Amino acid sequence: MELPRSRRSSHSPVRGMTECGPPYTSAVNEKKSSFKTPLLLSFVIIFVVVASWLSYDIFVSFVSDTQLAQSAVVLVGVDANISSASRIAAGGDVLPGKTSTEAGKIEDRTLGGLLPDLAEFEPGVCASRSQQPHRKNYFQPSKELIRRLRRYEVRHRKCAGRARNFFHPQSQSEKDDCRYVVWIAFSGLGNRLMTLMGAFLYALLTDRTLLVDGTKDMSELFCEPIPKSSWLLPPEFTEEWLKTVNESSPQRFAHNSTDGGGSSVTADFSYIHFTYTFDHKDETFFCDESQDQLESVPWVFMKSDNYLVPGYYFVSRFNSDLGALFPDRGLMFHLLGNYLFHPSDAAWAWITRFYRSYLSNQDRLLGIQIRTFRPGPLPSFSEQLQQCILNNSILPKVVADGHSELKQQISGLRELKNGTTVLMTSLESYYYDNLREYYLSRPTESGESVAIHQPSHEGKQRTDNIGHDIKAWAEIYLLSLSDSLITSGWSTFGYAAQALAGVRPWILLKSEDDQVPDPPCVRAKSVEPCYHQFPIGNFKCPSKDAAHDRNSFAYLQPCEDVFFGAKLVQ
Ligand SMILES: *[C@@H]1O[C@H](CO)[C@@H](O)[C@H](O)[C@H]1NC(C)=O
Ligand SMILES: *[C@@H]1O[C@H](CO)[C@@H](O)[C@H](O)[C@H]1NC(C)=O
Ligand SMILES: *[C@@H]1O[C@H](CO)[C@@H](O)[C@H](O)[C@H]1NC(C)=O
Ligand SMILES: *[C@@H]1O[C@H](CO)[C@@H](O)[C@H](O)[C@H]1NC(C)=O
Ligand SMILES: *[C@@H]1O[C@H](CO)[C@@H](O)[C@H](O)[C@H]1NC(C)=O
Repeated sequence: MELPRSRRSSHSPVRGMTECGPPYTSAVNEKKSSFKTPLLLSFVIIFVVVASWLSYDIFVSFVSDTQLAQSAVVLVGVDANISSASRIAAGGDVLPGKTSTEAGKIEDRTLGGLLPDLAEFEPGVCASRSQQPHRKNYFQPSKELIRRLRRYEVRHRKCAGRARNFFHPQSQSEKDDCRYVVWIAFSGLGNRLMTLMGAFLYALLTDRTLLVDGTKDMSELFCEPIPKSSWLLPPEFTEEWLKTVNESSPQRFAHNSTDGGGSSVTADFSYIHFTYTFDHKDETFFCDESQDQLESVPWVFMKSDNYLVPGYYFVSRFNSDLGALFPDRGLMFHLLGNYLFHPSDAAWAWITRFYRSYLSNQDRLLGIQIRTFRPGPLPSFSEQLQQCILNNSILPKVVADGHSELKQQISGLRELKNGTTVLMTSLESYYYDNLREYYLSRPTESGESVAIHQPSHEGKQRTDNIGHDIKAWAEIYLLSLSDSLITSGWSTFGYAAQALAGVRPWILLKSEDDQVPDPPCVRAKSVEPCYHQFPIGNFKCPSKDAAHDRNSFAYLQPCEDVFFGAKLVQ
């Protein structure tokens, strides 16, 4: 097979976005390459994995097709059009609350009971929630999860306002039963989505109230998820003060030296440390005994750059609870992410503008998320993408060189066929240019069209005044509206998009050399993110002789892209 390469030898630098690294610019070096070379895949993976140990804006996951198909639910009544207009109804043409469709069925704007009734929220504050897009692959929450969320909302409304008592313990003498988990922002946006969801799940499992460190513009990015309340920490918790909650704090869990570094906790608060400097003592957080001790601690602060949720299964009582809340363990982020993360009006305005301009005219939306962990452009990665697409028939092939070509092009103008729109996100325009060039060079065998768009390239002019994170969040959200996805291994940006979408992506495996891995991409087993630094046999709990192990549970499996990581599958 022969793929045309981009003929451009240079182009203007393009500002892009990344999960946490700075955008970089570069010129394209034209490079002739062949992708016939078979690879020493295992060596590449090992090398890649080791070399990327220090890249913390990354994570991964697998579910069977039939299982997914069986449980897939089309949310918006009987409107099964995959087409754009029903996926996203922007600009106020959809009424909040329940709207009847032409077929007379009721549109459910609560995602099957996942969200509180829209009437509970202040009117007109969060357009993305009232204009809930139609996600073809949305999965219904369990009744138990719905019940638990409603119970959580009641508790949150009661307790969030009393959080100031932290600094006035004397006023706490009125003895309320509020306990809290405070999420401290750390690392890039993709990682923050992972850890925030993990902290919320911890709050659900332990009957605590989640409060969110607002110092990283959280309110600029997201709507408030709890009606008539706020999830932001009160301003008394200043940025300065939050900095003193760190790995040297005496409150660090399991690190109090006055009792020999045992797993004791202090009376008032405890700090759970899971950023890259964590150690095996921190991992004892996943022991039953530790959770028993933390029960009596009113304030738990958490800081992490990893998706810790798979570790919760080691705690016996969480394990059984999680089984009831999530009969399909591969859908935890899908459900809680859709519960928590609603784009702010600023992000939503941008999302809808882009969607309507570029993505609303075709039958199928394919999202491609490109993230290389080396400065690029990398010609081998472009080839890897094309091999992934063509080997797996994700997009149609173009016709071979020949005479029929011209005829097809002419008839193609007369007889418009529906095709696929590709939404590409990348730091660079190189991958976009190459793929677009391929589809402009000749007609596809099937006659379908393939239109390719990249927001941070084409949308550059319009978006200069919009914050980096808002744009990143908008891209994640747009990717999450895709019918199918290709993501880059190790990337939390991709994990967030796939999980929100409920779409098992094709994952482009990571390569650190100039070779295309074989296979170039694999299909994810589930839509769940990967816990990269999963504690494999590293820590022991007092009650257990054997070290914990990823093989303890059938639903914990090695990640597709990070072999020492673990992810949840059904
Ligand atoms: C959905 O499809 C029907 C035909 O199946 C079409 O009449 C209708 O306009 C479509 N709706 C949207 C919103 O695209
Ligand atoms: C970490 O916290 C301690 C107190 O808990 C504080 O003295 C120290 O300055 C903090 N370190 C940083 C880098 O903020
Ligand atoms: C450390 O542990 C000791 C004994 O358990 C306790 O009295 C003390 O308050 C703890 N110190 C801190 C700073 O948590
Ligand atoms: C293309 O899409 C439109 C609207 O979604 C639909 O009415 C039409 O039948 C489609 N055409 C083909 C050839 O599938
Ligand atoms: C993908 O296609 C390329 C080029 O045709 C081929 O060399 C490679 O072996 C294929 N990989 C798989 C897994 O089929």
